[in-house]
Amino acid sequence: MRLLVCGGAGFIGSTFARQRLLEHGDEVTVLDKLTYAGREENFHDFAERPGFSFQRGAIEDPDAVAGAIAAAEPDAIVNFAAETHVDRSIAEPDAFVRTHALGTYVLLEAARTLKGTGEHGLRYLQVSTDEVYGSIEQGTFTEESPLRPSSPYSATKTGADLLVQSYFHTYGLPAVICRGSNNFGPYQYPEKLIPLMILNALHGDRLPVYGDGMQVRNWIHAGDFARAIGHVLAHGVPGEVYNAGGPDECPNIEVVKRIIELTGAEESLIEYVTDRPGHDRRYSLSSEKVRALGWSPQVRFAEGLEETVAWYRENAWWWEPIRSGDYREYYQRQYGLGLS
Ligand SMILES: NC(=O)c1ccc[n+]([C@@H]2O[C@H](COP(=O)([O-])OP(=O)(O)OC[C@H]3O[C@@H](n4cnc5c(N)ncnc54)[C@H](O)[C@@H]3O)[C@@H](O)[C@H]2O)c1
Repeated sequence: MRLLVCGGAGFIGSTFARQRLLEHGDEVTVLDKLTYAGREENFHDFAERPGFSFQRGAIEDPDAVAGAIAAAEPDAIVNFAAETHVDRSIAEPDAFVRTHALGTYVLLEAARTLKGTGEHGLRYLQVSTDEVYGSIEQGTFTEESPLRPSSPYSATKTGADLLVQSYFHTYGLPAVICRGSNNFGPYQYPEKLIPLMILNALHGDRLPVYGDGMQVRNWIHAGDFARAIGHVLAHGVPGEVYNAGGPDECPNIEVVKRIIELTGAEESLIEYVTDRPGHDRRYSLSSEKVRALGWSPQVRFAEGLEETVAWYRENAWWWEPIRSGDYREYYQRQYGLGLS
């Protein structure tokens, strides 16, 4: 298959690109704007492989999208491109609106035009999130649950999902949506909970925990989510939504304590800080529909976390340039704490 992977220089997009290229023999073209979170370092082990190419450009730029499509001649477009940090969406929502609303629209228009001319019938897959459903105290969200996003991040992701569905209903674009729960694993930018805590613990820096730390998340390994996306692309029914949740739930404070154990850090490094405004208490996804297509998650949280800690320990080349760059200012602004 020939794939155009938008946002493929980020954490999950690069995991998906690696999997499709190395395990499935697909041809992969990545289109990515390279925001602070997008990095060519994420291609280090497959950049030179035949069948891989990279185009730098924004999904909201019709010329960049047309150029990438001409180069890739894709059978499918998979859209990971997004601003993904909820805290940043609270401080500066504009890039979220531009990328999620305008960017998704530009991609859908390009896909709609191609649909009429492509030999094999182009598929479109939108990568989405459990955050579109909002918070749930008990039970799990299914694909039929109401959409109740609570941050500018999740609201703009929801808008993009609705636009994708409208292109299926209005123009017959064979589009599917795959909504993942909280991802973790190698190559995740250190502003997110797990890599932030791992790197701070390894450096003996404070471990900032929002509120009481009892926010519960349903953790999925990025390799499992990438496989779910490939599975939905191959077997999903056009117009449908598929949730892909991880096998384990865990409150944030418990995640932090496990990281302390795995790194040998001191528990006294934990510092409770003012909670994020509108912080959702619990996310939980039912994945019955995608399981019925034959996918199931392979990595349990405990073993995946241990491997992830080991990866960050062994790959300082990857995170050192981030931790010594603009990230330091972001971190100081966000938590009022310094990094060593
Ligand atoms: N990380 C999670 O826990 C999680 C969970 C469920 C769903 N998702 C979704 O998965 C996707 C990928 O998330 P991630 O964690 O890998 O994010 P990430 O922040 O690591 O990567 C996002 C990538 O998109 C690129 N990008 C941003 N704006 C762009 C634009 N306008 N044009 C082109 N490229 C652009 C960035 O440069 C970066 O490479 C997102 O759509 C996100 O909503 C993430």
